[in-house]
Amino acid sequence: MNRTLRRAVIAGNWKMNKTPAEAEALLAETLPLVANAACDVVACVPFVDLPAALQAAAGTNLKIGAQNCHFEASGAYTGEIAAPMLAEMGVQYVIVGHSERRTYFGDTDKTVQQRLAAALKAGLTGILCVGETREQREQGITDELVAMQVKIALQGVAKEDLHRVILAYEPVWAIGTGLTATAEQANEVCGVIRQTVASLYGDEAAAGLTIQYGGSMNAKNAAELLAMEHVDGGLIGGASLKAADFAAIVAAASR
Ligand code: 13P
Repeated sequence: MNRTLRRAVIAGNWKMNKTPAEAEALLAETLPLVANAACDVVACVPFVDLPAALQAAAGTNLKIGAQNCHFEASGAYTGEIAAPMLAEMGVQYVIVGHSERRTYFGDTDKTVQQRLAAALKAGLTGILCVGETREQREQGITDELVAMQVKIALQGVAKEDLHRVILAYEPVWAIGTGLTATAEQANEVCGVIRQTVASLYGDEAAAGLTIQYGGSMNAKNAAELLAMEHVDGGLIGGASLKAADFAAIVAAASR
């Protein structure tokens, strides 16, 4: 983390967990534990939890995000949620391109690019997820693959909107597996992401970009990962569902 150049952001990705009542309870437990954070704190909750979460977090330092948005502003897309709908509610962040959306729901680099564009157009901050599978890492194509994912997703993103983009490096093999990238592995790929952004927008813009690591980040390994130059925060799955664990990660990012 380089605090003089960029903001540290710890975001929980609750995935498909917690009913609205459970969301309210988890936030009630989490909020006092993260109230003194010296980093940005976000909870990305299921769509139906958004009203309860926004209400619970109102007036606090915790911001609310969604986990996906559609790329059109409205239309005949049964079951989908558009970015302007989220923005109107007071949602400030949205995850795009999570590997679970890419794997199970047909998201491609192209639709991820479209979703990010829609999110930015609606005034949201996009948390753009990229990362390689185990097979791709073994093939030695991690750097090229991640650079390609970044380049495609950022197509059409204006330089003045880049401050509303957070990159999240999430190696697919580390998500929900208990396997964590080593701090060196995480730093290396986050560095590749920063270089890629520098090639598109220049060194200064890249230096100000927040890049998170995600993949079995927890209360124990957070400090070591966050100590790395290019790791500016975390996108937290499982550990964000336990208030004490999430708060410990926020504390690690606040030191
Ligand atoms: P886990 O922290 O459960 O591995 O999930 C990471 C993730 O996918 C966050 O988006």
